[in-house]
Amino acid sequence: MSKKKKKEKVEINWKTAYDLWQERKNIKRLETKTPIDELIGGGIEEGEVVEFYGEFGVGKSQISFTLATRVAGELGEDVVFIDCESTFKPERIIEIAKARGLDPEKTLQKIHLIQPISADEQMEAIDQIPKNIKPKLIVVDGVTTLFRAEYIGRENLAERQGLLRQFLKKLLTYVRTNKIYGVVTNQVYGNPESSPFLPLELRELAVGGHSLYHAIDNRIFIRKAQHGTRIARLVDSSRYPPAERPFVITEKGIESKQEE
Ligand code: GTP
Ligand code: MG
Repeated sequence: MSKKKKKEKVEINWKTAYDLWQERKNIKRLETKTPIDELIGGGIEEGEVVEFYGEFGVGKSQISFTLATRVAGELGEDVVFIDCESTFKPERIIEIAKARGLDPEKTLQKIHLIQPISADEQMEAIDQIPKNIKPKLIVVDGVTTLFRAEYIGRENLAERQGLLRQFLKKLLTYVRTNKIYGVVTNQVYGNPESSPFLPLELRELAVGGHSLYHAIDNRIFIRKAQHGTRIARLVDSSRYPPAERPFVITEKGIESKQEE
């Protein structure tokens, strides 16, 4: 007998562009209430993963803390925070919550934290989200860090990229199936084909490269500007035009830069 299983018929659902337009009208967004909203059509869409990438100290974790506080403290929804660099600071959440007039303890209670110390642990994190936790937001701060630390050198690159893709697929599936919001942060590396004439976002590339691009809907590059200002730039979006917005890091987390 042939071992080949009989191929099941795959159902395909057709719709008109009008139907899609109607469906998209009902899509909910997480307004971050930060300048980031202006880059991505008003906020993060349900089922969407947004990436923030940039050099160390640029404010990626501060963005993560601000969004976690907004969802946990202001919206009262559960947040899953996968802290791959073990830099999560409850004290900072308390500061941001207080500055925004929110209850700091209630905010902390809604943030469910895992601090994986290996790529294996990170890989398991999404599968093992407890059933009683129904997150509205998942943050993965430092999504490539553990993979990068464990799979060093060119000879391990293919395996690293494969595992990273697998992790992102899990994340994306969870975010899409549960109609929630996803945020990842990522480090950069110097583009070996760089030249001083290239803009900074082409001189500093996100770690993981193409492995990430397929899973992530909007990618935002963060760079430092003068006097502590940060610039967020939407890079290569299929949906929105390239644009930049400045922001500052304050006791409220991240917020608009006040005009001088
Ligand atoms: P890596 O994780 O190292 O790649 O960096 P990152 O991009 O996550 O940077 P992070 O979000 O940790 O930002 C660090 C910057 O945020 C510091 O340079 C400070 O300027 C600012 N910052 C950190 N904590 C506070 C704080 O409590 N209050 C204020 N106002 N700013 C802070
Ligand atoms: Mg960080």
